[in-house]
Amino acid sequence: MTENAAAVVILAAGQGSRMQSDLPKVLHRLGGVPLIGHALAAARSLEPEQVIVVAGHGGDAVAEAVARLEPDARIVMQAEQLGTGHAVRQTLTELEGFEGKVIVLYGDTPFIGQDTLAALASHPADVVVLGFEAEDPGRYGRLIVTDRGLERIVEFKDADPATRRIALCNSGVMALDAALLRQLIVRVDNENAAGEYYLTDLVGLARAEGRRADVVTCDEDETLGINTRAELAAAEAAFQARARSEALSNGVTLSDPATVWFALDTCIGRDAIIGQNVVFGPGVTVESGAEILPFCHLEGCHVSAGATVGPFARLRPGAELGSFVHVGNFVEIKNSVLDEGVKVGHLTYLGDARVGEHCNIGAGTVTCNYDGVSKHRTEIGARAFIGSDTMLVAPVRVGADALTGSGTVITQDVPDGALAVGRARQTNKPGLAIRLMASLRASKVNK
Ligand code: UD1
Ligand code: CA
Repeated sequence: MTENAAAVVILAAGQGSRMQSDLPKVLHRLGGVPLIGHALAAARSLEPEQVIVVAGHGGDAVAEAVARLEPDARIVMQAEQLGTGHAVRQTLTELEGFEGKVIVLYGDTPFIGQDTLAALASHPADVVVLGFEAEDPGRYGRLIVTDRGLERIVEFKDADPATRRIALCNSGVMALDAALLRQLIVRVDNENAAGEYYLTDLVGLARAEGRRADVVTCDEDETLGINTRAELAAAEAAFQARARSEALSNGVTLSDPATVWFALDTCIGRDAIIGQNVVFGPGVTVESGAEILPFCHLEGCHVSAGATVGPFARLRPGAELGSFVHVGNFVEIKNSVLDEGVKVGHLTYLGDARVGEHCNIGAGTVTCNYDGVSKHRTEIGARAFIGSDTMLVAPVRVGADALTGSGTVITQDVPDGALAVGRARQTNKPGLAIRLMASLRASKVNK
């Protein structure tokens, strides 16, 4: 165990009734991933020993999303939301025997920075609260600080007018020693204006035990919590603005930054060029020097150095583009690996395929990968030339250096170096076009 061992507890049991939604609040999307994904990413930045999510409303759906985003995280259920202190109490079984710091985050507060969390986690006090100077302190809990550090937190509902004038507010994020947490959390009662078990009472209880409590402050922007659709939309705008300026300062060219949409984990290398109206779903990496032309949608894919994509291309999960691959307009690629130098210029669907290096895929090519029940694979060997409008009925293999004639329906494997043609043979009828048109015109005049 490292000296800085931490466990992260994410509170996510709130109903989010002000969202006017059947979806649990923390599953609404921000930056292409559920809100809870932002808290999980923040947790991950601390390299914690364990992550525990407290779920309540829509708990099964939350558990499913968490399992997908962070398979090692544990879920505990809080059937009734009796307060933040009660929520943390539900994690005692999971935290049993843990020694180190417990960091409490909120599932609906996506912008706490990694530097802020690191400062909180490394602060030596027994209880450390993340505070901020609020422009409008509103209904936040107020931090009572003296020269001995943080004395206690007073919730708005319980505060007298003088306390309400304090601008230093509680963000909700807190770090404290696990043993102290176990000792004190069972003493938190609900004798207050809200009738709730307040996590914030731990500060006063710790001070009464002669323990040290302190405040780490951050920018108010970081503490933004999401309660309504309007706040979600504003948070999305803030997220995108930050992602765009980060991309620019990392050396990515954005032709029109305001029209490019990023996801939480979008990773773009220096000197990549991103055209107008490009949308990145989750799980995209674009290497240095690749170019994404306007109007592309990418998700769960990798674009290697020197590749060009679009305009109007769609890369779906599992699309792996090798270096100097060219994917042109109206091309869709799913779960397919395209080796170095492959060209897929126009109007093509490649799904569940493996395409060897320097193949040329003609316009209108389709991998017929789905028979209505199962998906099947298409293998295309290196340097093969797939003629325009080839239908590749999977499972099927086209050998290296093979060629398929335009309009061919490939239903059997093609050996290396072979030419495969499967289409009706053409016949020419001399003069028939002229005679046919003349008779059609004559019949129209006679009507
Ligand atoms: C809390 C703080 C307040 C702080 C504010 C910052 C307490 C008592 N008060 O107040 O000092 O200024 O956050 O936004 O902690 N939750 C549960 N289970 C519960 C109750 C809450 O999981 O039983 C979760 C919610 O889903 C939410 C978070 O805890 O993610 C905060 O709960 P909320 O009710 O919004 O706390 P506030 O009253 O706003
Ligand atoms: Ca709140």
